[in-house]
Amino acid sequence: MSATASDHPPLPLPLPRLPEWAAFVEAAKAASIRVNELRLVTAAGLQLDLSGQRQSPALSTCAEALLDARHFDTLRTQLLAGQIANATESRAAWHTALREPAPTNEVAAERRRMNDFVRMADSERRWRNIVHIGIGGSDWGVRLAVSAFGYQGTWRNVRFVANIDGHAIAGGLAGLDPRDTLIVLASKSFTTAETLQNGQRAVEWLRAAGVANPMGQIVAITAKPEAARAWGVPDAHIFKLWDWVGGRFSVWSSVSLTTALAVGSEVVAGMLAGAVAMDAHFAQTPAAENAPIQMAMAGIVNRSVLGYGSLNIAPYDFRLANLVPYIQQLEMESLGKSTALDGQPVSVPTGPAIWGMQGTDAQHTFFQWLHQGSDGAPVDFVVCRQAEHDWPEHHKSLLANCLAQREALLRGKTYEAALDECVAEGMPMDKARWLARHRVHTGGRPSNLIVLPSLTPYTLGSLLAMYEHKVFVQAVVWGINPFDQWGVEYGKVLAKGIMAELSGDDADNQAMPAGNTASHHDASTAHWVKTFAKSFKV
Ligand code: F6P
Repeated sequence: MSATASDHPPLPLPLPRLPEWAAFVEAAKAASIRVNELRLVTAAGLQLDLSGQRQSPALSTCAEALLDARHFDTLRTQLLAGQIANATESRAAWHTALREPAPTNEVAAERRRMNDFVRMADSERRWRNIVHIGIGGSDWGVRLAVSAFGYQGTWRNVRFVANIDGHAIAGGLAGLDPRDTLIVLASKSFTTAETLQNGQRAVEWLRAAGVANPMGQIVAITAKPEAARAWGVPDAHIFKLWDWVGGRFSVWSSVSLTTALAVGSEVVAGMLAGAVAMDAHFAQTPAAENAPIQMAMAGIVNRSVLGYGSLNIAPYDFRLANLVPYIQQLEMESLGKSTALDGQPVSVPTGPAIWGMQGTDAQHTFFQWLHQGSDGAPVDFVVCRQAEHDWPEHHKSLLANCLAQREALLRGKTYEAALDECVAEGMPMDKARWLARHRVHTGGRPSNLIVLPSLTPYTLGSLLAMYEHKVFVQAVVWGINPFDQWGVEYGKVLAKGIMAELSGDDADNQAMPAGNTASHHDASTAHWVKTFAKSFKV
């Protein structure tokens, strides 16, 4: 990596001082959802239907002017060239380099090593059980890929353990034959407490079962090979990722070893190919037809102009249930910032809360709130035209439900229509007038519809890359760094201090992080630290 901190472009101006922002806000307020106009964008095998978003020619013009004012083209070029994009940590965010068809030698070498490892394991029919231990970005992408393509089960029994809660590792190991279990430790930093503690339990479990060389059954994927080595993992079992890959973007690295073992190396290769296609689309397509850019700008209208505090992700595909937490981490860890790159408050609302669930379960869980709640939220519907099962009626119902929910959110139902409905049902007028009010839907609730021809590794890769780039565009406009996560780091530091206190260490213990002594706790935390500490007294 040749970039240095000084390569970072000039700090962006605060948004409110930009005339282009004011013009964008005005245009967004004046725009409307045009229910009679179809607005489709095609990108790397996906179709993005933006008809459910506010639009107008003025809004498009202002969006492009705003991007120009934010030096978007330059920043995108720098991102894709691996220059420093993560200013607060002085490093690149070069996940796109991992999916290149002709990558650098070191990336190619790790890819080869991973594929060789899988080939060897498959040819020996080894490792009937895989326990993947990792959290956040070292977990969600792999979980998503394995559930997307292994939803019917795989010949290898794959378990995921992320949580520090001991029940997670207990359940993750329960019932497995230790002699044929491979433990995959995925941790970019190789310092994450959850992963290391769970890994330790797994090693003990192997040892207790009489496995002669437990470390021979551990694999580590990390940007800190020396730490994995010190932990005892043999060199041949250490797969590298790099400092210039953010943790939440590491699905494109050897972290996907578990995916390859579970559902095949061709799945990983297909995902990389789909993501590369989306990278090319993002890099080369004019803004008006550029799916990540259009999604991003619509999202900014919804969040920063219309004030929607959240975005709902509704994959109408059972196999994509894990898309929700994946996007949740990607968006919330990236855009959950309110300090701009110049160190000042951003002063407009930034990243929304991301939540959701696969349809149709979601309809019977929280769609009522989306339809008639006082706040509402924009929704990203994701659906596949074609299913892989043998029951077309099921797929027809799934598609019908997806379209119907979206249409209801979009069009709403007026009081007059509801009244007609009640009258047609034979109600007396008084009751009809009363009940009609309960049946009104405001409508005009924004949505995207993302259509995959079918769920393949390629379309999944393309979908994930589209969201990644959307996040980047939004960060550029808001003027924030999408690649750090200082908030999470702070919690980790406090947890370390409280751990020491629960272990009975003196509140002023030197080992405790500065500023984290018992006397600094609020009354409630101090009470519970003291109470819980009693449970650990020997
Ligand atoms: O939650 C913070 C975070 O650093 C994520 O960004 C990351 O994906 C996760 O923790 C796990 O980190 P690591 O891969 O270093 O164990």
